[in-house]
Amino acid sequence: MTDIPAITIDADLQSASVKKSAEPSFIRIEGVTKKFGSFTAVNSVTLEIEKGEIFSLLGGSGCGKTTLLRMLAGFEEPTAGRIYIDGQDMTDLPPYERPVNMMFQSYALFPHMTVAKNIAYGLKHERMTAAQRDDRVRNMLDLVQLTDFAARKPHQISGGQRQRVALARALARQPKLLLLDEPLAALDKKLREHTQFELMDIQDKTGTTFIVVTHDQEEAMTLSSRLAVMDKGRIMQIGTATSVYEYPQSRFVAGFIGSINIFDGKVVSIGDTTTRVHVPEFGGDIEARSVEGIEDGAQISLAIRPEKLTISRTNPQSANSIRGIVRDLAYFGKDSLYRVALPSGHIVSVNSVNARRIGENERVADWEDEVWLSFDPNSAILLKD
Ligand SMILES: Nc1ncnc2c1ncn2[C@@H]1O[C@H](COP(=O)(O)OP(=O)(O)OP(=O)(O)O)[C@@H](O)[C@H]1O
Ligand SMILES: [Mg+2]
Repeated sequence: MTDIPAITIDADLQSASVKKSAEPSFIRIEGVTKKFGSFTAVNSVTLEIEKGEIFSLLGGSGCGKTTLLRMLAGFEEPTAGRIYIDGQDMTDLPPYERPVNMMFQSYALFPHMTVAKNIAYGLKHERMTAAQRDDRVRNMLDLVQLTDFAARKPHQISGGQRQRVALARALARQPKLLLLDEPLAALDKKLREHTQFELMDIQDKTGTTFIVVTHDQEEAMTLSSRLAVMDKGRIMQIGTATSVYEYPQSRFVAGFIGSINIFDGKVVSIGDTTTRVHVPEFGGDIEARSVEGIEDGAQISLAIRPEKLTISRTNPQSANSIRGIVRDLAYFGKDSLYRVALPSGHIVSVNSVNARRIGENERVADWEDEVWLSFDPNSAILLKD
């Protein structure tokens, strides 16, 4: 087998847990395509995932996340491409011969079985003695902290507890790879956040590699060592949460992860460190950090996250500043969101952290106030498409 280097898109930003050696990756998905008739659900996906990662597939409904997982698990056959797990070509193996388990989008528990029986069900294909099986179930109950609930039926426990039973059932076989399809979707926000940490803890304890499908970007960012953003069957970008958020490589990814202000612009000149861009909606030129692959005179997009804009009542006397009028203001306690109209009419979102405790009339700005917005050239993202 040939060595394929780890993904290099943003090698400098990869987390320490991601190996960088030339050893083959734990999971290699090579040019995998899935067609249903003439419809392409997954389109030439190439992806490598390392042992012990929590890797998230993030994307809107119908972008092919479940289909990709089903191919990894062996429930769906790729139309083209190969899938390797732990150095072995899995493409033609049936699900039960793969070191993989999948927790489905609707994690149906058996209502007539107790929690313990539901977990033991995950072991039905394993060659184990009854004592070994009981032992494993006990360990799993302990892992997901449900020992006291072993004798209850699913309708006698909470949604979050049911979710943990499903997780324990999927982990019982001790798969090398666990595929989780929207594992937390049924939980309310608080329980979701709590369970995210539990999931990370379980991953840490078992060393299992997790691939998690979600359409919740915050969840993907919290959980994952790395994530892939998908659109229409294709992978748009792969990287750590930080790299995808701070260095999106397309308008799609910039807009999909977090909120962002996007302007059309034209490159005026390119220096070693800064690029000048004419942005009509800003009424002039701005400076942005130079990036590779952007040419003089090119039409580009300029993207700026709301929290990277500084709002002030006085002129900051710096490059990249513009006047505007506060049209909307929302106070969230720890931060405030301003919607500021530029002279061009373009509305810009600005997020400002309320670091200091303020009095009733001490806000940075109020409705209809004239303000200045400014940003650092390093915070401006230049995008080709
Ligand atoms: N068996 C099938 N036959 C035909 N089309 C299918 C089949 N399974 C999935 N599709 C289509 O493939 C596309 C991708 O489906 P998939 O279930 O992978 O999406 P998803 O990203 O998991 O979406 P969601 O977030 O809604 O679960 C969809 O347009 C879907 O309608
Ligand atoms: Mg799905």
